[in-house]
Amino acid sequence: MTNKYMYFIANWKMFGTLKSVNSLSKVIKYTNSLTNRKFKLIYCPPFTLLDKFNNKLKNTNIEIGGQNCHHSDGFGSFTGFVSPKMLKDCGAKYVILGHSENRQIGENDKIINLKIKNCLKNNLKVILCVGETFIEKKQKKTKQIISSQIIKGLKKIKDTKNIIIAYEPVWSIGTGKLISTDELSYLIEYIKKILKSRYKIKKTKVLYGGSVKTKNIDQLKKIDILDGFLIGGASRNPQNLIDIVKKSYI
Ligand code: PGA
Repeated sequence: MTNKYMYFIANWKMFGTLKSVNSLSKVIKYTNSLTNRKFKLIYCPPFTLLDKFNNKLKNTNIEIGGQNCHHSDGFGSFTGFVSPKMLKDCGAKYVILGHSENRQIGENDKIINLKIKNCLKNNLKVILCVGETFIEKKQKKTKQIISSQIIKGLKKIKDTKNIIIAYEPVWSIGTGKLISTDELSYLIEYIKKILKSRYKIKKTKVLYGGSVKTKNIDQLKKIDILDGFLIGGASRNPQNLIDIVKKSYI
């Protein structure tokens, strides 16, 4: 049983319509019923739902975040994009950056670094996703990939207190495949070591993401050094999300 302050990030990806906002009621009821709220729940819906979510979650302790943003700061001629300032305007407090689904379509560390800088400038907390592909894992490059994505992503960023790292092995995302507990503990420790030695930060939160489900949360929660979970598919079902939060504390 954990007793620590945990983060649960609900990444809805490209799912959800206006009607989906109703599914939040059950989760709000659950979090409101708790007297000892030792966790932070953050919904990251698609851009189209941010404002709706913001309204629905007013007066609750649940927060919202964007799933990505443009690398420039304010406004501009960038058809189809949303800037950090615009996320902030919708009530977002967080933003997921460097998700493998975006890296796979051409987002590189340099762009991610620029995005991080501009998000921090706009007072958004950043959830930086890092992780290796299946081929990189087979080639035993996991640590090399993780450290390079962290170091390049955080280049010339001095103040890292508003950065959360999410370790997400790409081969585990949406596949139901889970990393072993030993390997995960080892890699989370490795990430914390990099952060401590390079950035002198003792308290950076490190989360795990990739097929987090109600059926495997009992196994994952045993990893004491984890500070929470980035949950994709399972987070769209309110009962599954509640169960993941609940089971993490049992
Ligand atoms: P998943 O997604 O939980 O559906 O594997 C996690 C993620 O992509 O952040």
